[in-house]
Amino acid sequence: MTADALTLARRASERLRRDPMLDLRLTRPQRQWVETTHPRAVWRDGNRLGKSWAQAADIVLFARGMHPHQTHRGALRIVVASESWAQFVPLQRRLWDLLPRNEIHPKLYFSPGQGIKGFKEPVIPFVTGPAAGTEIILCTYQQGAARLAGGNYHRAYCDEPPPETFVGELLPRLAQQGGHLRMTFTPTPESPPLDWLRDKIDAWKAGKPGGFCEYNHGLTPENVLVYGGPIPVPYMSEAQIEQFGADCLPVERAMRMQGAWDPLSAGRWLTNYGPGCHHYSAPPVGARLALGIDHGAAAGKQAAVLVACTQDGTLAPRIWVMGESLSDGYTTPEQDARAVLAMLADCGVGWDDLDVIVGDRPTGRNRFAIAKSNRDLAQFIAWQLGKKRREVWIDTPKKWAGSVNHGFRIMNAIMGREDDGRSHFLIAPTCPELTKAIQGFEGDRRDPLKDVLDAARYSIERLVDGSRGWAPPAITYA
Ligand SMILES: Nc1ncnc2c1ncn2[C@@H]1O[C@H](COP(=O)(O)OP(=O)(O)O)[C@@H](O)[C@H]1O
Ligand SMILES: [Mg+2]
Repeated sequence: MTADALTLARRASERLRRDPMLDLRLTRPQRQWVETTHPRAVWRDGNRLGKSWAQAADIVLFARGMHPHQTHRGALRIVVASESWAQFVPLQRRLWDLLPRNEIHPKLYFSPGQGIKGFKEPVIPFVTGPAAGTEIILCTYQQGAARLAGGNYHRAYCDEPPPETFVGELLPRLAQQGGHLRMTFTPTPESPPLDWLRDKIDAWKAGKPGGFCEYNHGLTPENVLVYGGPIPVPYMSEAQIEQFGADCLPVERAMRMQGAWDPLSAGRWLTNYGPGCHHYSAPPVGARLALGIDHGAAAGKQAAVLVACTQDGTLAPRIWVMGESLSDGYTTPEQDARAVLAMLADCGVGWDDLDVIVGDRPTGRNRFAIAKSNRDLAQFIAWQLGKKRREVWIDTPKKWAGSVNHGFRIMNAIMGREDDGRSHFLIAPTCPELTKAIQGFEGDRRDPLKDVLDAARYSIERLVDGSRGWAPPAITYA
């Protein structure tokens, strides 16, 4: 390259760094979204259609007066809201990539897993350039009223389904500036009630005033094609889309693929379970071991499951369910402790061999009772092992809206992988109760079958998901 060509190339790359919007490439659904002119627009669709990305692009275009349809002069106030900071990260990461660094406040930085930081109340102030004086205010639905108070806004974005009260709070604050509302989400079985939104969309379909205009496309190979380069390039292959569908729980497949409003109630949840799960042989030496415990809905009931795992750092972990121990609710913690230790002994596993010990609170009790049932059990286990009380520690599982489905999805995905008819999820013949629960569980959270499944789920989640963030390939939980 000549010196001149080098200078030119350097300049071009500097320009790109200063103005990342020059590199904006969108899919057809994303483009349609940015070009919407309706003052209230909803994009309800499957996971991974690039909804959060499109929102981020729209925000930066609007803030900088480059939006194809709405431009304002002067300092703008833009609000961007989501369900939780964790669910907010994909949008914020994309926003951070698109924001011209020299135009935003120098105190801002991006913290992986947390989002855009720098101010105590999350906000992105523009200090120079076309958007100087503009503020992008970030908040969660729960903060809602407090964060929105005392302001009018030029545009508002919701990523993930908002509660009706939040939108009720927001609309009057958009009225003065004629601001538009943009909502993107995938419905999930854990979404807040959305009937109010369906009514608004029906109103729009019927041509009534006050309706919300809706977009819906579905996760298909055409809809992940990115335009703007020499040829359209997909960001997910057909095989990846297919795998994504296969990994979904059938109840939620239509929601995750097409953004369907409702889960499908159709029989067994763990559909990938089959005879391949019973070609059991003992796990290899060196497998990681976890004991999962669930204290059940009824007082005193308890289920414990011993699980082994290999390849836990990879996308194809293997699971062995080695043993189970159930009590009917009429046993004492001392008897429960004895039963758990006997089960471990039958499997040839000592307490100190366990890598993970995780036990849940009893459902429907207060926090005080949580500690208590793990504590009761741990106390008697320690005593029977001749250990000090503090040497026996039972962890509690992580929970969030959606964690139940997340755990079942992981189990179903592992069950579905087979080599020569042998599943990656193997169940020892000594586990009839777990087998019965896998065959019979249809999603009812009060079903007593769920106790033993939960015990397995906690240990498996912790083994494969734990610190490494494993997820069935191609599934994101945004
Ligand atoms: N225009 C695009 N160009 C390249 N990759 C994209 C584009 N849009 C989306 N993606 C990819 O798809 C992933 C999912 O996008 P995201 O906006 O989080 O989806 P959604 O919010 O619909 O679940 C992104 O992390 C990115 O890898
Ligand atoms: Mg998203």
